[in-house]
Amino acid sequence: MSSSFIERARSVLAANDRGGYTVPTDRLYPFQWNWDSAFVAMGFATFDIDRALSELEALARGQWADGMIPQIIFHKPAETYFPGPDVWRTSHTIPTSGITQPPVFALALEFIAARAGAEFTPRIAALYRAGLAYHRWWEKARDPEGRGIVAVLHNWETGRDNSPEWDEPFARVPQTTTTTIVRRDLGHVDAAMRPRDEDYRRYIHLVDLYASLGWDAMAMWRETPFKVADIGINAILGASEEALGRLAKRFGSEAERAEIASRRARLAKGLAELWNERIGLYASRDLISGKAMDVRVSAGFLPLLTEHCPAEARQSMQQRLDGLLKANTLPVPSTLVGEPGFEPKRYWRGPVWAVVNYLIARGFARQGMGEQAREVDEATLGAIREVGFCEYFDPLTREGLGGGTFSWTAAIALLISEDRMALAA
Ligand code: GLC
Repeated sequence: MSSSFIERARSVLAANDRGGYTVPTDRLYPFQWNWDSAFVAMGFATFDIDRALSELEALARGQWADGMIPQIIFHKPAETYFPGPDVWRTSHTIPTSGITQPPVFALALEFIAARAGAEFTPRIAALYRAGLAYHRWWEKARDPEGRGIVAVLHNWETGRDNSPEWDEPFARVPQTTTTTIVRRDLGHVDAAMRPRDEDYRRYIHLVDLYASLGWDAMAMWRETPFKVADIGINAILGASEEALGRLAKRFGSEAERAEIASRRARLAKGLAELWNERIGLYASRDLISGKAMDVRVSAGFLPLLTEHCPAEARQSMQQRLDGLLKANTLPVPSTLVGEPGFEPKRYWRGPVWAVVNYLIARGFARQGMGEQAREVDEATLGAIREVGFCEYFDPLTREGLGGGTFSWTAAIALLISEDRMALAA
């Protein structure tokens, strides 16, 4: 891997560094985002453990008393983003949004811990406690009935904002808002690539509702018209719980190890229920109607990351990936080509995202399918090298979309490059 490529990836992180935490990209996303920072922390860990830990520590400073790690932490004010703290109306000392995002935190912490020297142990131990509190929050606030399936109460929590999976559950969310909507995003990127206005009104309707409930987790659970088991989050949480269990061997107590093991077993059982026979892939489920979503999305591959992944599912996912490669489609489109709702350029309705690809590749590797892992990694790296550190890529034309200086894309470039160099060594 040429050193200038690695230098360029590092310089994207440096340009987006705001002093101890990183913004996803300048202007469009001027604060700290939860899962972006987890990937960025792993990227930093390829060359600077101290800085990698700071990234997670900055996230932990936004953690709520009940354990939730928010989707956005507004460390410093900025005028280029909507909705800001005045819309969220939460009560944390550092202003934050009131919802969370995919829990990659413990995966990142384990990744960093594996390469950190003894001098970092106290900082890692403190972050382990933040991770433990976060996972307890997921169980208590988002699976109060103990089914082993956690729910999201806002599409922004999934990290896949406008995926067609949310179209049906959103149909029952009113478009009325008490907040005036300002589409600041459209000043930075083409409207054709972004969610539509009517979608935005529904997103903000939910924010208004939860703010009116004082962001009380139980009240939100009772009152929400939007309750979805997101396959991405359930798979990532399953994998993260396993990572937390391994960290607990070094940093936790006997009782904590037992607690994590029982949550982990429940999550594995829950994932089994999210296998969707009709589409031959894992799928999200609307927990209000009880309906599984019959739409094939890239996140449907993520249970590969977990201990729960039976042979039938593995085989079906392998075939699906081979099909994409044969069709000369850049793997893995956020919504697979040909699915209802597929749009090659609109955000999570088709474009390829490097972070999801990275997790899918790790999933194939975990299941012993090294060839598939390599194919996905090569495709991701190839796209980044060709068109830059873009937010996402058109799966049909391979065009880079949404701006060229995205932190998490740079982080993934560093991670895959490092793996490749290790293989070559
Ligand atoms: C968008 C993405 C989300 C990401 C955020 C910051 O909202 O959908 O996944 O975390 O941007 O990059």
